[in-house]
Amino acid sequence: MGSPKNKLIKFAEFETFENTYDYTHETKGKWREIFGNDHPIVVEFACGKGEYSLGLAKLNPHINYIGIDIKGNRLWRGAKSALELGLTNVRFLRIQIDNAASYFETDEIFEAWITFPDPQPHKRTKRLCSGKFLNIYREIMHAQGKLNIKTDSDLFYQTALEQAVLDGLTVEANINDVYALRPLPEFLNIQTYYENIWLRAGKKIKYVRMILGNATSDTDKRISLEEGTPLPPLTETA
Ligand SMILES: C[S@@+](CC[C@H](N)C(=O)[O-])C[C@H]1O[C@@H](n2cnc3c(N)ncnc32)[C@H](O)[C@@H]1O
Repeated sequence: MGSPKNKLIKFAEFETFENTYDYTHETKGKWREIFGNDHPIVVEFACGKGEYSLGLAKLNPHINYIGIDIKGNRLWRGAKSALELGLTNVRFLRIQIDNAASYFETDEIFEAWITFPDPQPHKRTKRLCSGKFLNIYREIMHAQGKLNIKTDSDLFYQTALEQAVLDGLTVEANINDVYALRPLPEFLNIQTYYENIWLRAGKKIKYVRMILGNATSDTDKRISLEEGTPLPPLTETA
């Protein structure tokens, strides 16, 4: 993961790049101006080194991507690669996801991704697919905005599907083994640092896409698979 000294150097350099932002920048409602066009904006929450944002940005030049994470030394990798590749439709923002509404206007975001998040086994509310976080995403996303989740974790996958059932959300795709898909869509064939670790460990990769809608998640409600709650059926994705 690099020495502490290297981390500090990357952290400092991150702040000097032209494609990076943090809490000192007033970005709320300004992202169209920042990108210099009206293309739809997609965020990746907890993007780490930003491989997914970079991969999607290469596939879709007419969509703008923003990778969000709190760790500047990880974001450094994504931002540097974007500059080296000359990718102008991807930026990186160092903030706590919890405070997203301070950096984006309501409706500013068209779609979101979460790739290989920490499953937070001991605290459901810390999981990035819990009702608490879905409410945070809804504050900045278009009413028909979609949340894409790619994970190795059965716990995270199940929590996401349970939350969709609790909130009555439309689940557009529910794939329990991404790499068994034939053909495999290009947007699912992008690997991150953490995905590669889990692939080497022989884990099956799961993918869920849901429409977040206008609902407000009741963060006190709980269900679990053991109670036999019917979950959305497995689907193939377009
Ligand atoms: C397991 S890593 C996954 C990184 C990347 N998506 C990947 O697949 O390689 C989880 C990332 O989530 C970030 N993270 C977790 N909670 C966060 C929060 N509340 N705000 C910002 N970043 C967060 C961490 O800093 C870390 O980089």
